Amino acid sequence: MSTQTISPAERDRLIIFDTTLRDGEQSPGASMTRDEKVRIAKALERLKVDVIEAGFAIASVGDFESVKAVAEAVNESTVCSLARTSPGDIERAAEALAPAQRRRIHTFIATSPIHMQHKLRMEPDAVIEAAVGAVKLARKFTDDVEFSPEDAGRSEEDFLCRILEAVIDAGATTINIPDTVGYTLPETFGPLIGKLIQRIPNSDKAVFSVHCHNDLGLAVANSLSAVQHGARQVECTINGLGERAGNAALEEVVMAVRTRQDQFDCDTGVNTREIMTCSRLVSGITGFPVQPNKAVVGANAFAHESGIHQDGVIKARETYEIMRAEDVGWTDERIVLGKHSGRAAFRQRLTELGITIKSDAELNAAFTRFKALADRKHVIYDEDLQMVVSETRHDELAEHLKLVEMQVTSHSTQKPVCQMTLQIDGQVVETTGEGGGPVEAAFNAIKAATKTDNELVLYSVNNVTPGSDAQGEVTVRLKKGGRIVNGLGAHTDIIIASARAYVHALNRLEAPERSTHKTL
Ligand code: KIV
Ligand code: ZN
Repeated sequence: MSTQTISPAERDRLIIFDTTLRDGEQSPGASMTRDEKVRIAKALERLKVDVIEAGFAIASVGDFESVKAVAEAVNESTVCSLARTSPGDIERAAEALAPAQRRRIHTFIATSPIHMQHKLRMEPDAVIEAAVGAVKLARKFTDDVEFSPEDAGRSEEDFLCRILEAVIDAGATTINIPDTVGYTLPETFGPLIGKLIQRIPNSDKAVFSVHCHNDLGLAVANSLSAVQHGARQVECTINGLGERAGNAALEEVVMAVRTRQDQFDCDTGVNTREIMTCSRLVSGITGFPVQPNKAVVGANAFAHESGIHQDGVIKARETYEIMRAEDVGWTDERIVLGKHSGRAAFRQRLTELGITIKSDAELNAAFTRFKALADRKHVIYDEDLQMVVSETRHDELAEHLKLVEMQVTSHSTQKPVCQMTLQIDGQVVETTGEGGGPVEAAFNAIKAATKTDNELVLYSVNNVTPGSDAQGEVTVRLKKGGRIVNGLGAHTDIIIASARAYVHALNRLEAPERSTHKTL
């Protein structure tokens, strides 16, 4: 299909529905506090996404409070809450969304034979009845109601037609087709959307949407195929965060549609220059690093290593680049501040990066940390500044445990030993640990002092910026009982970064207000 002759004004709007705060949060370890969700929601609003799914109001008190706080904070984007079909779910979603300028209730029920038989234990007619009831009830609270037949990718087409016609009749304004288990292929998923639109008699009364999971690495391809067959909303997440292998990555969907306008008769309203800021914010808050070769937002996405490629790009950028790095928010002015920079320049650069400093105390703490970093590191990049603020906020929240100072000795023939001073619930505690390496020695020192009982399920180190004086960004994932949390730490010394990440993760394990999906 070539749509080259369509002018921008004639193109349909492709609605971008961001579910980083709901499906994204379902990634193991990616739970966020209410304040963190509000910060991400504000960044999503600057990105100009159309809909922000802020959570699943009935899932927990934390989720309810987060949806409400996002509803209060956001002015432009529509704020949405997920709800099953039961009246309690719908009412709770409506209550959390009440302060929103624009609100949407998103209700869902499974429609695949395997889910209806084994999970719901419901007959197909009863599933239709529940869906219709939920949509009718949701319409009492808002005119903007979305319905999803969960596991649509493995549902029977005839049954989908029946239930979708019924919910549109009941008042659903968006019909979202989820490939819940990431099972479908672009060659069949796109045409399925086209067939549903064609076969359902009242399909013109609703916007068709897709929600694809990435279990086979096809979430973006399936979403784009659906758009080419008539879908006008894509559900996606920043950095492709989400349940299991994640959701379709927002930045990839948006840039594919924007870059290949010759293949799409629609476009999004996204301000693509905000993409990098959002990507870094989400990765910093969740502790999920972005792989260097990730499309659009990975550190290498615009780096040319081979001499032939470099030569080509110097002669004419289009030889090897299909997008402009600056269009997605990579700036050339990445070397921003140094050790002589003052408080005003520091604050201004944070504002330019979209980081809002909450108080003078926070500014002072972040500035002190920045000065200490500038003493150790020749040039300070934007990425360093993001880390400085994240680390400052981790310290602010670190009520239970704080790393005061530490020292590790490494030796080629003896075990490394770590001596550390911690503050535990206000008490200063000296501790030591040994290990196979200095990181393990540091972790053992913390474990000895806190007597913590948890399992380390992930440890990873990435450099924040180039150069041998770069800060190492460490992610530590801990599991205790059914709970998984991520901790992040950054420092030019990766052993200190590791200890900080471990301390951050332990604080998160202790934090009671974090939203979880435990009640479901
Ligand atoms: O993957 C899925 O099916 C979902 C629905 C709730 C839309 O997340
Ligand atoms: Zn999902």
